[in-house]
Amino acid sequence: MILEVEGLTVEFRGRGGAAVRALDGVSFALERGESLSVIGESGSGKTTLLRCVSAHVAPSKGSVSLFGSDLARADSRGLVELRRRCGLVPQDPYGALPPSLTVLEAVMEPWLIVNGRGGRREGEARARTLIAELGLGEELLSSRVRLSLSGGQRQRVALARALILDPELLLCDEPTSMQDASTRGEILDILARRQRAGMSVVFVTHDLFLARRAAARGIVLRSGRLVEEGLTKDFLDSPRHPYTRELSSALPRLSPLLRG
Ligand SMILES: Nc1ncnc2c1ncn2[C@@H]1O[C@H](COP(=O)(O)OP(=O)(O)O)[C@@H](O)[C@H]1O
Ligand SMILES: [Mg+2]
Repeated sequence: MILEVEGLTVEFRGRGGAAVRALDGVSFALERGESLSVIGESGSGKTTLLRCVSAHVAPSKGSVSLFGSDLARADSRGLVELRRRCGLVPQDPYGALPPSLTVLEAVMEPWLIVNGRGGRREGEARARTLIAELGLGEELLSSRVRLSLSGGQRQRVALARALILDPELLLCDEPTSMQDASTRGEILDILARRQRAGMSVVFVTHDLFLARRAAARGIVLRSGRLVEEGLTKDFLDSPRHPYTRELSSALPRLSPLLRG
């Protein structure tokens, strides 16, 4: 198992001190090489789930085990190593990137942190390849992230940063929400290529079509609870839970040929 989530419950203090239960007893597992879509509307707990898996938020109850290690038992060196094997593309590409760096520096940074200055040549070569693969023009390499990038370009820089260390597991939090349709398709193709090469993806989205393209299996969250688990194609074609049915009937009725 690459990821095992067991009874995961997270409570935050909301406004006025009342407890907000962002996740409530969520359990699922992912085998090596397998991918998973996490589906739910805004506020259903998707981001909190990824933040727990990447050890940025500690569970109130339950456990997360990554590559066979219980996160609650990992020391700080262990956590660094686990995070290196597990890339995270955060939901907010504005908060996620160091604004004073250039695009090339921002993509190289994780590589230099792990490999030191001696890794500079290889890091730069990898960064340039990824930036081109993600359709960011060469003229952007020396642009400052803060000054000159759109939200969609920032999302692609954040994805390149997460891919540069060749993660075994990639956690993507709505990574194509700011892309136009053609770039969205290209990004999904890039992820699919990596998946065929053995990388696992956890793909967070509120969109059932994207969920189906990103992974064969999926879970549906509603108000922090897992309400449905199965094949993402079934969520569209024969949803079992009324909530999944609602999500699916809210989608525009496209011809099956046009569906992603
Ligand atoms: N740091 C936080 N403090 C307080 N409440 C939070 C925090 N993070 C998330 N929440 C609450 O937890 C719930 C789930 O949020 P989130 O995981 O961001 O959902 P999603 O990503 O599906 O939109 C929401 O009600 C949200 O307001
Ligand atoms: Mg979110």
